[in-house]
Amino acid sequence: MNNTDLNTITQRILSSKKYRGLHPFTVERIVSQCTKRYPTKRIEKKARNLLHQVWGAYYANRPDFARLVSEIPHTSDTQHIQDYLTRILSLHASTRERIPLLDSFYSEIFQETGIPESIADYASGLNPLTLPWMHLPEDTRYTAYDIDSIQNSFIKQIFAQLPIHPRAEIRERDLAEPGTPFADVAFLFKTLPLLDHQLLDAESVISAIPCNTLVVSYPRASISGRAKGMEKNYPDRFARIAERMSLRVKLLKFSTEIVFLLDCREASSPAASGTILKSKT
Ligand SMILES: C[S@@+](CC[C@H](N)C(=O)[O-])C[C@H]1O[C@@H](n2cnc3c(N)ncnc32)[C@H](O)[C@@H]1O
Repeated sequence: MNNTDLNTITQRILSSKKYRGLHPFTVERIVSQCTKRYPTKRIEKKARNLLHQVWGAYYANRPDFARLVSEIPHTSDTQHIQDYLTRILSLHASTRERIPLLDSFYSEIFQETGIPESIADYASGLNPLTLPWMHLPEDTRYTAYDIDSIQNSFIKQIFAQLPIHPRAEIRERDLAEPGTPFADVAFLFKTLPLLDHQLLDAESVISAIPCNTLVVSYPRASISGRAKGMEKNYPDRFARIAERMSLRVKLLKFSTEIVFLLDCREASSPAASGTILKSKT
């Protein structure tokens, strides 16, 4: 398949109602990966199937962002702001499960890492809205990246209207995108288990994130509330990755989330271990 055909399929998918809010890099990456695996006439269907797996659950449960923006409180009262943000955080399982942890979650993490000068929050979802619970100095640079541009612009509108400090940057970025900027501390919360579906290699994604400490987390229970072996399997798999990469790991266990802190200061240069995309197996 030539580049023109690849572009045509990518543009067709991106112009559909369902996928127009997805970062174009992600759609093109998935179409391109399908070109290596499937005959030409099945590429678009396979790419849409894959995108549905990656994206379907989020799309189906999309909150009414316009209504939520209209409900942003006109206040500088910290408690009112936190009440509003908590209501938004409860709309997605990943952040909903984090709400009861917030009073100690970041203080325990930063106790290990020190107070960072810069934070990159990858595959950030709604997590930028937990910024008030990080208690960071005014000059900390916090940048959040996700492939969901509609959700990102919703979060930007909240930051534009509420006095939340430090100021956050919200950007579109796919974990497989080259040229990841350096951050003192990088978050990768509850996302590694999703990468298999996307034909991304977890180890390569981790090694392409330039930072001093990478903070990776896993949910302790599935969305339905049952553990389903997840609590053991994913962290075991992650521990093996860290061992292969010779990275020192510290484990923090919270009631709904398991957190690994990876000391990346000694890690080899980003992406040194090769391509992020999984090879055809
Ligand atoms: C399970 S949610 C976790 C959200 C957040 N990290 C948290 O724990 O609250 C996964 C997020 O990853 C994003 N995502 C999925 N694939 C991605 C990729 N390849 N690159 C960047 N973000 C991705 C999704 O849009 C979604 O917001």
